[in-house]
Amino acid sequence: MLSQEKNERLTAVGPGTPMGNLLRRYWWPVATHDMAGRVPVRRRLLGEDLVLFRDASGRLGLLAEQCPHRRASLALGCTERTGLRCGYHGWLFDTEGRCLEQPGEPADSTFASRIRATSYPVAELGGLIFAYLGPSPAPLLPRYDLFVWPDVWRDIAHAELPCNFVQIMENSVDPYHVEWLHGRYGSFLKELAGEPPVQVVTKKHVKVAFEVFEHGILKRRVLEGQTEQDEDWKTGHPLVFPAMLRVGGGGIATFQIRVPVDDTHTWHVWYQTYRFDAPALPQASIPVYRVPLHDEQGEWLRDYVDGQDICAWVTQGAIADRTREHLGRSDLGVIMLRKLYFEQMERVEAGQDPICTFRDPARNDCIELPMEREKFGGSRAFRDMWLHESSIRYSPIRDQVLSQFGDVPRHADAAAS
Ligand code: FES
Ligand SMILES: [Fe+2]
Repeated sequence: MLSQEKNERLTAVGPGTPMGNLLRRYWWPVATHDMAGRVPVRRRLLGEDLVLFRDASGRLGLLAEQCPHRRASLALGCTERTGLRCGYHGWLFDTEGRCLEQPGEPADSTFASRIRATSYPVAELGGLIFAYLGPSPAPLLPRYDLFVWPDVWRDIAHAELPCNFVQIMENSVDPYHVEWLHGRYGSFLKELAGEPPVQVVTKKHVKVAFEVFEHGILKRRVLEGQTEQDEDWKTGHPLVFPAMLRVGGGGIATFQIRVPVDDTHTWHVWYQTYRFDAPALPQASIPVYRVPLHDEQGEWLRDYVDGQDICAWVTQGAIADRTREHLGRSDLGVIMLRKLYFEQMERVEAGQDPICTFRDPARNDCIELPMEREKFGGSRAFRDMWLHESSIRYSPIRDQVLSQFGDVPRHADAAAS
C-alpha cells in the first residue's frame, strides 16, 4: 500500500514531476519508422504534445506542437527542404527549432532570430524513432541487442492503452499472474469457447526470485516439474529499467516497451525478433501493425495472452489506487520495482545519472540482455504458444515466420486432421 502522495510521485510523468524528471533522462520510442513522412504527425510523450516530421531533405524533427507565433498546431504544417512551415501564417522552423522565415514581417526585421520553437533530439534505430526530452547532454541512445542484431527478422506491434505505465511495469515483476491470469482464467475462457487450455502457461510456480542488476530487475522462476538447472531459473529474463520487458524463447525475443504518453495513457510497443535455424533473406522493411483492443461488441479482447494482460492493466484504473491495495509475499517483485523507481528519482534529484543511461560508446555497440532459450521448459512449445496466443497473432508476417521456423500453422493442422 502507498500513500496518495507516494502514488502520485510514482505515477505522474509530466514536466517538473519527480518521475517525469527521472523518465526524461532516457530516450523513448516516439513513433514507428512508417509514421514519419511528408505529413507531420501529432505525438504525445511524457505529457507533452509534439509534432514529428521529416523535412524534404530527409531530416527528422520533433517540435512542441503549438506554434510560437499564435499557438496554432504545427501538425497543420507543410514540410519543406529546410524544415516545417506553419500552416497558419507561414513561419518556417528547422529541425532544431530555429525560426528561418516570417513571411508577414518587414523584410529588414530581426524578429525571427529571437524566436525559437521547442525542439527535441530524435534518432532512428531498429525501425523505431526515439526522442530525448531531458536535459543536455543527452546520454547515448542505447543499442539494445534486439534493435541491432544483424541476422534476424523483425516486426513491430503497437497499441495505445488507457492507463498509467507503472501498473504495466508492475506486471513484469509479477510471475504468479501467469498461472492464474493466463493459466486458470485463460483456460476458463477457452473452455467457454469449446477450446483446449493453453498448457504452457498453466504450470504452478514453485519458487520465484528477483534481483536488481545493471539493466534493471532480473527475475527467475522454478515451475512445477523443473529444477534450478532449468533456464527459467538459471538464466531468467529482465525488466529493463525504466520501462521495458524482455521476454521470449524458442528463437523469438520480444521487447515490450511501455512508453508513457501521459499520466493515464501508455503507448505499448511489442518489438519482436525472429532468429531462424537456417538463414532467411533480409527484410526489405520492418512490418508495423496495430493490436486491436476490443471485439465487435466493444468488449476487451481477452481470448489470448496479451489481451488478458491488457485487461488486467486497464481494469486496475487509469491510475491504480495504491492506497487501497493489499500486497502479499507474492508481490515482492512489485515492491522491489517501486523501491528502484524511488531510489532512481533520488539519484536524479542529487544530480546523478540514473541506471541504464549510457555515455561510453565502447559499451554501446550492442547491449546484450539475458533471456531463456528454453522458456517454460521447452522452446518449441513456447514458440507455438507465443505465435498464436500473443500479439504476434496479428502480425502480417506470422505465417511466413511459422514456415521459416519449420512449424505448421494451426489452421493447416486442423485441415489435415
Ligand atoms: S500561428 Fe504559426 S505562423 Fe502564425
Ligand atoms: Fe502476462
